[in-house]
Amino acid sequence: MSQRKLANMKFIDPKLIPATGNLEIDRDHLRLAESMNQVYESWQRGMRCPELAGKFEELRGHLASHFGKEITIARGAGYKRWLAHHHEHKEFLHRFDDFLGTCRTASGPDQANIEMFMELEQHLFEHEVMSDQDMWNLWDKDGKVLANEKLISWKPEFSVGVEQIDGQHQRLIVLLNDIHLRLRDGLTPVTAIVERLKMVYLEALQHFRSEEQYFSHLPEPMADQHRIAHESLIKELKAALDDHDMADSQRLTALVEGYLKFWLLDHILNTDSRLREYLK
Ligand SMILES: [Fe+2]
Ligand SMILES: [Fe+2]
Ligand SMILES: [Fe+2]
Ligand SMILES: [Fe+2]
Repeated sequence: MSQRKLANMKFIDPKLIPATGNLEIDRDHLRLAESMNQVYESWQRGMRCPELAGKFEELRGHLASHFGKEITIARGAGYKRWLAHHHEHKEFLHRFDDFLGTCRTASGPDQANIEMFMELEQHLFEHEVMSDQDMWNLWDKDGKVLANEKLISWKPEFSVGVEQIDGQHQRLIVLLNDIHLRLRDGLTPVTAIVERLKMVYLEALQHFRSEEQYFSHLPEPMADQHRIAHESLIKELKAALDDHDMADSQRLTALVEGYLKFWLLDHILNTDSRLREYLK
């Protein structure tokens, strides 16, 4: 590995990351940059493969979670090319895994695998600023929403054909709309907003339990995937509620407007809707 190549390894200045208009995605980008910078700093301190593999694994974890979230948000926002985009992510992670495999078994300071990483880094940069830009137009760049505009309005196509389930979905939408308005007008203390989010968490838990009672009508793989989707939201919400940094209205806005809204829309329209076919 030449010194010239090493010098090319970049420290990412978080201030230079462009805002996407979605606060949750912006937050993820900051975390990704932090994780990249940790790799860079470890490298500067002399850490090499295979020791460095742990840092790369962390970065891979953040990337996978970011990609997953991005697709959920994009689908929920009605982005038509989401499947092609999802394949781009998958391919990228595949290459990253090849790289990780090489790094885990490598030794010595001059491995070609760091060159491979820099290629990946470049590729990621291109993906994040070029391919992703297509999606950034889905939401208002200044995050402007009219004061009394609802976060989600119930539409007939949301119905999954089971009154109990539709009612629970409507209730979740009402709760999220209420939190959204409170975040907008800024009159509710952050602690009270967190309390309301805990209610969303409990309602979601109960709702998932009700929904899962119908899963015996679904083919096994579909039921499993659906259950996993529920578990992942519960995990995500729980982590957010346990996170003390949540006591900040910007962070709460990112969670509610940037993620939960799209998760719920995507989940109702693309996952829960499958119940309709099997419960006829
Ligand atoms: Fe991204
Ligand atoms: Fe992407
Ligand atoms: Fe569901
Ligand atoms: Fe549901």
